[in-house]
Amino acid sequence: MTATVIAIDGPAGSGKSTTARAVAQRLGLAHLDSGALYRAATLAALDGAAEITGTAVLALAKSLPVRLNLTASGFRPEIAGVDVSAEIRTDRVTQRVSEVAALPELRVWVNQALRSAAAMHPRGVVMDGRDIGTVVFPDAIIKVFLIADGEERARRRLLQMGRSTDAGSVRRTADDMAERDRKDSSRAVAPLTQAAGAVLLDTTDLAFEEQVDRVVAMGRKVFS
Ligand code: DC
Repeated sequence: MTATVIAIDGPAGSGKSTTARAVAQRLGLAHLDSGALYRAATLAALDGAAEITGTAVLALAKSLPVRLNLTASGFRPEIAGVDVSAEIRTDRVTQRVSEVAALPELRVWVNQALRSAAAMHPRGVVMDGRDIGTVVFPDAIIKVFLIADGEERARRRLLQMGRSTDAGSVRRTADDMAERDRKDSSRAVAPLTQAAGAVLLDTTDLAFEEQVDRVVAMGRKVFS
């Protein structure tokens, strides 16, 4: 079965996941956060003290297993059957995830997992990530590339985590995000880039509801 997919890609903190979740809810689709699988594989590697190589991380991810499980509330990242939604957001995972996401062997495995997960949903999915429109679903029915100013992205991320948005924290977070974007955009395999046919949406000056409305409007033309 081929999945019907709305692909939302963009840099760290551009609001992809929150937008994708809200769009999915409005259109009666499932939300699938592809970064969660890279994060879960990273957590598994750190907890298992595995070497960060394609062979080692892939073997661990397959054996535990690391997976996205479709539950009543959506796709949930699990390691050996345990929900790791909270643990994959910790700083120690965030600091190492770009390294793990650059492993070509792991990317092949993740892409297969994403395609099978999407095919499990009867209506379709809103999938967010870095290479959904370019590599995982190049034929996605709608593609969006979400961007926003670096400091604005940092501020939103800090607010989301309930942290202080003083100037120093915003600058440090913006620097960390810029470094992660640099790694994600310069890697050899599936670098972060706007897909052919993707609609560019700059959310710097958009309210959250507005950015969701824009994508929902595109989706309504396809999903009635
Ligand atoms: O969106 P996020 O911050 O949770 O993503 C975590 C990491 O995984 C980030 O370094 C980019 C990478 N990633 C990727 O390479 N391809 C995807 N489709 C999704 C995420």
